[in-house]
Amino acid sequence: MKLSFIGNGAMAKAMIRGALKKYEIEVYGRDKSKLDALNLEFNKALHVKLLSDGVDTTGKCLILCVKPHALKPVSKFLNGTADALISVLAGISLQTLTQTISARHTVRAMPNLAAAHQASMTTLTGDSSFKQEAQEILQSIGQTLWLDSEKELDIATGINGCAPAFLAIVAEALADGAVRDGLKRKDAYELTKGLFNGFAPLLNASDHPAHIKDGVMSPGGVTAAGIEALESHNVRHAFIDALHKAYKKTLK
Ligand SMILES: NC(=O)c1ccc[n+]([C@@H]2O[C@H](COP(=O)([O-])OP(=O)(O)OC[C@H]3O[C@@H](n4cnc5c(N)ncnc54)[C@H](OP(=O)(O)O)[C@@H]3O)[C@@H](O)[C@H]2O)c1
Repeated sequence: MKLSFIGNGAMAKAMIRGALKKYEIEVYGRDKSKLDALNLEFNKALHVKLLSDGVDTTGKCLILCVKPHALKPVSKFLNGTADALISVLAGISLQTLTQTISARHTVRAMPNLAAAHQASMTTLTGDSSFKQEAQEILQSIGQTLWLDSEKELDIATGINGCAPAFLAIVAEALADGAVRDGLKRKDAYELTKGLFNGFAPLLNASDHPAHIKDGVMSPGGVTAAGIEALESHNVRHAFIDALHKAYKKTLK
């Protein structure tokens, strides 16, 4: 099976890195030099083509990976009816997609940059008759979670789409905290990476995040002192608000 990427930016590249292990891939973009550079990164394993030459979408499985504002201009180059359209455009509804690009099945997906390591947590929603195929395609870049509505997908975007950036701030701040008290920066970053690597299996094995906290937080102990500081700075509210603001932004 062949996947046809429309767009050659950061998300397309991350997805291609994962998907190339399983699928033949063609990429349509507007800039020949960027397309050639991308192809070189993948040892010329891609078929790269200029959007401006037009795309006969008939029977293709399109993965739409351009900026949301580019939907209209890009659609002008697409002719025919695709077999499927999978769009990763944040905040662009199924209704807008089906009105703009002709496809037998339309699905929205929200992957994240971990796709490049086949570790994306990708949410999906849309035409349920294409659910199994869409999940199979997106599982080439990690795990998938099919959601029942676009509202849920837009809310979830704060976690799987945006939170890699939020967690990057957490990782950087933890390292800064240790550097502040004298740990070498190189060691602080190495420790932080190890922490995140170890935290993933802990969270996977746990029924609730609070169980991990309770397991570490002994009475009157070192962790309890740190947690008191986090709570006094309203860390929970900061994350809840970040998720809420991200959701509101997808609706604009
Ligand atoms: N980055 C993430 O973590 C993430 C996560 C989930 C979803 N997404 C979604 O992924 C999509 C792409 O994001 P990105 O991070 O890959 O952005 P990006 O690196 O800036 O890439 C954007 C792509 O859109 C193309 N483009 C922009 N305007 C265009 C136009 N008028 N006509 C044709 N092509 C145009 C760009 O072409 P040029 O290179 O020629 O400028 C580039 O290929 C967005 O819709 C975003 O919502 C991103």
